[in-house]
Amino acid sequence: MTAHYQVRDAVAVITLDNPPVNGLGHRTRVGIVECMTRAFDDSSVEAIVLTGSGRAFSGGADIREFGTPKALQEPSLHTVIETIEASGKPVVAAMHGVAMGGGLELALGCHYRIAAKDTQIALPEVNLGLLPGAGGTQRLPRVIGLEAALNMIVSGKTVLAGKLADARLFDELVDGDVLEAATGFACRAARASASHPKVRDLAVRHESAEAYLGFARTTVAASAGPFPAPLQCVKAVAASLKPFDEGLREERRRFMELLGTSEARALRHAFLGERAASRIPDVPADIAARNIAKVAIIGAGTMGGGIAMTFLNAGIPVTVLETKADALERGVATIRRNYENTAKKGKLSQGAVETRMGLLTTTLSYNDIKDADLVIEAVFEDFSVKETVFRTLDEVMKPGAILASNTSTLDVNRIASFTRRPQDVVGLHFFSPANVMKLLEVVRGETTSHDVLATVMQLAKKIGKVAVVSGVCDGFIGNRMVEQYSRQAGFLLDEGALPEQVDRAIEKFGFAMGPFRMIDMAGNDIAWAIRKRRAVEQPEFNYSKTGDLLCEMGRLGQKAGAGWYDYKPGDRKAYPSAVVNDMIVRHSGELGITRRKISDAEIVERLIDALVNEGALILEEGIASKASDIDMVYLNGYGFPKFRGGPMLYADQVGLFNVAQAMRRYAKGYQGHAWRIARSLEQLASDGKGFND
Ligand code: 3HC
Ligand code: NAI
Repeated sequence: MTAHYQVRDAVAVITLDNPPVNGLGHRTRVGIVECMTRAFDDSSVEAIVLTGSGRAFSGGADIREFGTPKALQEPSLHTVIETIEASGKPVVAAMHGVAMGGGLELALGCHYRIAAKDTQIALPEVNLGLLPGAGGTQRLPRVIGLEAALNMIVSGKTVLAGKLADARLFDELVDGDVLEAATGFACRAARASASHPKVRDLAVRHESAEAYLGFARTTVAASAGPFPAPLQCVKAVAASLKPFDEGLREERRRFMELLGTSEARALRHAFLGERAASRIPDVPADIAARNIAKVAIIGAGTMGGGIAMTFLNAGIPVTVLETKADALERGVATIRRNYENTAKKGKLSQGAVETRMGLLTTTLSYNDIKDADLVIEAVFEDFSVKETVFRTLDEVMKPGAILASNTSTLDVNRIASFTRRPQDVVGLHFFSPANVMKLLEVVRGETTSHDVLATVMQLAKKIGKVAVVSGVCDGFIGNRMVEQYSRQAGFLLDEGALPEQVDRAIEKFGFAMGPFRMIDMAGNDIAWAIRKRRAVEQPEFNYSKTGDLLCEMGRLGQKAGAGWYDYKPGDRKAYPSAVVNDMIVRHSGELGITRRKISDAEIVERLIDALVNEGALILEEGIASKASDIDMVYLNGYGFPKFRGGPMLYADQVGLFNVAQAMRRYAKGYQGHAWRIARSLEQLASDGKGFND
């Protein structure tokens, strides 16, 4: 059973019991209705209390059920709420922990609400591409007012119950035992009156509702981007001014419209995928993690500094080690400057800046870091430098310390082999700027132990990162895929496109930045160095030569004032470059190619399919354990449009049959050999399945 029934002093206590957060899945809904019926039928029961077991009252509708028939199967949440609201015996919600989405809507259907002051209250459906679909848009305005309700519903933000003390939402806010308080309240309510208030009977009042809603519609429409849900939320809340049942019908209609959208599917995928990423198939969920109280970082450069900030922000003490005092000073000064800048923008108090800086110590001696629980190396990307560092760490670090490398390209197995404790070695590939970017690729070596993996996955959550496990391969998940994407972008230039057209097409698709603007920002020399290495190691792995020609012209990107685009001093805007475009056209001529007009649709298809195909190969090789992991990498580290849910989900939505067809067509075209179509993709396509099925 996912709801329990117990009678205490003439009060029936119905306890939701569906871990982890009492999601209102079908079985739980059935359980509530059954328990309510028992309470109605039991003549010794005078009042009913609805509560949640564990850490939540309820986190809302069971997100895992969306997209399945169970989500809408009766008793629906509407039916459950109607049953409660129609009860002749008073029903009191005893709220603690989390009361979100359908959980809050359930409470709003009760006659009374008693909450712990620190209960997290929210209608966060908008974050899943939805609107509150069980009366939330109609009942919340009736208890906290039109404007406050609209803000909560459109933003999806969490508010602590204690902050809503002045509203009619709660009948009592308590510090102590909520269940105790709710049972007492229920008894008193039953004895005081035969009729009990219903939120639906309250009126929504606002002195200038029409003008306010007009303003809300305009501002929300302007900021919602490709997402339909925020504006639908405004419209549903506006319907709360109508008679209750009419408003409720409108809410339902709009909710159903959103439920089937690709945007809602993408956001759901992101929510569940982020959490699924922390589950590693062969690592038991209950394995004991190591305790990480102190962190050391080797190297105070770009990455070392950003990684240090990430830990300091989470209140974890950090010691940074460098070889020279001036490098340390520079590193610490950069960290302080970053914090001061945030403080100047009003986003951090000066006190918080000092607290964070107070957790930072520096050293030139390994002796000072030997008792750290985790050490992250972020020195130059050079095997011999890394070798020296890891041999030293192996000598000095206490047993059980986790030894991590932030390498972006080097073989983590080889790095582990520099130590006598390869089981403690792992890659922690942060992205730049490390204190901002949410993605963390956890690179699992052949010998990395299970408890090390479990520890870093837990730690990632604590420091606010989305961690995804990758096996060892060139580029790990993200960069290995992006190489194929960039490769196609280069071939498109050879055939007839120009950088601005490629960028424009993919930006229209939803990427924040196209490949050429992106590489100009990162620096063209990095990819140039990789290509040179590749030319020796894998000569058959060819690219468009335009990238090399560009670098030979000294156009290394924004930092050089010139790259694929022209830049003006003090201006980061990319201006199409006649010199570069001449070079590209000349190069096509040298290859004997008659340039053709390439459609935006082809550009998008080739770039995205290149990601998808490499993603499929990565899955085949076991580098990623599930398709959603790849999507989480792309959503959190590579600016893939969130409303599309990541390359693998996007491919599923296009249909793998169509994706495979397109790849076969491109495989017959210019540089067609680059399409080493994944067998697994062909198989799924012919079985009519998707990566995420
Ligand atoms: N349904 C099913 N599972 C849920 C859930 C939900 N509504 N909310 C959270 N979970 C699960 C997570 O998937 C995760 O599962 P896992 O351990 O198996 O990976 C587990 O609960 C813990 O979640 P978090 O890791 O996110 O734990 P936190 O403590 O950090 O956060 C939370 C807890 C604040 C409840 C957060 O999970 C959250 O924001 N959940 C989403 C709440 C939400 O959006 N509710 C609205 C649902 S839509 C709805 O109600 C429609 C209705 O209007 C008709
Ligand atoms: P960086 O050049 O900015 O910093 C490296 C720092 O390491 C310098 O301060 C240097 O003094 C210090 N250092 C060098 N040898 C050392 C040693 N033996 N002991 C202690 N300190 C030493 O380099 P960056 O960009 O921070 O890169 C560091 C690592 O992070 C590299 O492995 C790189 O591949 C990886 N990485 C870089 C990303 C980026 O965007 N810059 C992204 C992800 C990973």
